[in-house]
Amino acid sequence: MSKSLWMVSAELPHFKSLEDNIKTDVLIIGGGMCGLLCAHFLQKAGMDYILVEADRIASGVTGNTTAKITSQHGLMYDKLIKSYGIEKAQMYLESNQKALEEYKNICQMIDCDFEEKDAYTYSVRDRRAIEDEVRAVNALGFGATFAEPKELPFKTLGAVCFSGQAQFHPIKFVAELAKGLNIYEKTFVREIAPHGVFANGKKIQAKKVIVATHFPFINKHGSYFLKLYQHRSYVSAFNKAPILSGMYVDEDKKGLSFRSYGNLLLIGGGSHRTGKQGGTWREVNQRAREFYPDAVLQNEWAAQDCMSLDGIPYIGRYSKNTPDLYVATGFNKWGMTAAMTAAMILCDMVQDKQNEFAPVYSPDRSILKPQLFVNGFESAINLLTPTTRRCPHLGCALKWNKAEHSWDCPCHGSRFSEEGKLLDGPATGDLPKV
Ligand code: FES
Repeated sequence: MSKSLWMVSAELPHFKSLEDNIKTDVLIIGGGMCGLLCAHFLQKAGMDYILVEADRIASGVTGNTTAKITSQHGLMYDKLIKSYGIEKAQMYLESNQKALEEYKNICQMIDCDFEEKDAYTYSVRDRRAIEDEVRAVNALGFGATFAEPKELPFKTLGAVCFSGQAQFHPIKFVAELAKGLNIYEKTFVREIAPHGVFANGKKIQAKKVIVATHFPFINKHGSYFLKLYQHRSYVSAFNKAPILSGMYVDEDKKGLSFRSYGNLLLIGGGSHRTGKQGGTWREVNQRAREFYPDAVLQNEWAAQDCMSLDGIPYIGRYSKNTPDLYVATGFNKWGMTAAMTAAMILCDMVQDKQNEFAPVYSPDRSILKPQLFVNGFESAINLLTPTTRRCPHLGCALKWNKAEHSWDCPCHGSRFSEEGKLLDGPATGDLPKV
């Protein structure tokens, strides 16, 4: 897999690794967008904190996103109203709009190719679903419109349009945001201890700990291995393709997404549950060739997303029994706004301040959702599958990913290189030698 367009077109600052025992009030584990935004807000609030990152900052999902900043998360709101009622749906929408506004504020001071754009979720199979979503969003007091996109290379049955959303260059953003923050890179937390953690053989004593590691790696609390699964999707950037004025996503999980960056067109798709088969870049590039025969492929990369049971992220106390441990995960492919929402909520929580949006995202909510049974079934099947290549997280059988030459786990989505080096958690170590 080549590096993402973002990773090859911006430089990240370097930070030293932890070499001594240290004490802090708030420890943030994970230097992706969410962890860095937490650090930014805690620094602004004058709090004592440090952030530790196992590798380099933004080296995980943040560097591989499509970097859309929007409160439109597919066809979310009609479902949300039906499952949680109008008030919670309204809070979800408001919190995401607030996240968008906060990006607008910060991006005034950071040169990161921030552009306001309209966001569209389209359908090629179900006009009714689009109409229902437009109605639902309007019932929440937000002016979504029904649109018939003209710049897509195929006919749709309509789209929900949210105006005034945004896109940016996430690595240019992070590179500036991180400057001056208290960060240790190459500092891998593998173990939680009473009142702190161990990393690089050193103890970090902390009164409060925020786990912002994409997939939470502590299995003992919170049952995140039941509440989450991971999904891979594939992005290709093309030259000599039309420039689109909007950002587009199919309401069908198997569909395509589109956005432009400069003179490039980014097309995403080929998605599948991590550890399963999917269309990968093969499908994305084939569709692109059909639509735009003159387009020239410039970069391709893949994204890994944590999916929650109900489409809402888990942000708040890690579990009922861990009052000083906090988590942000399950961003469901909408990591930019979710990271900002999480950072705003968690920074209030660690300062013992009320946050009006926190109840919507509470990780304690009911897990009795159909996806729970799918996750349980996948785990049972893959735990019982006989093979020598097993995942060090909880022991599932690993599957070979032909497109990316990696060993992937269908249970919770850990990934390893051909040589067995850890690529993606929740596993915290390499594969044993065979
Ligand atoms: Fe959990 Fe592999 S990621 S068993």
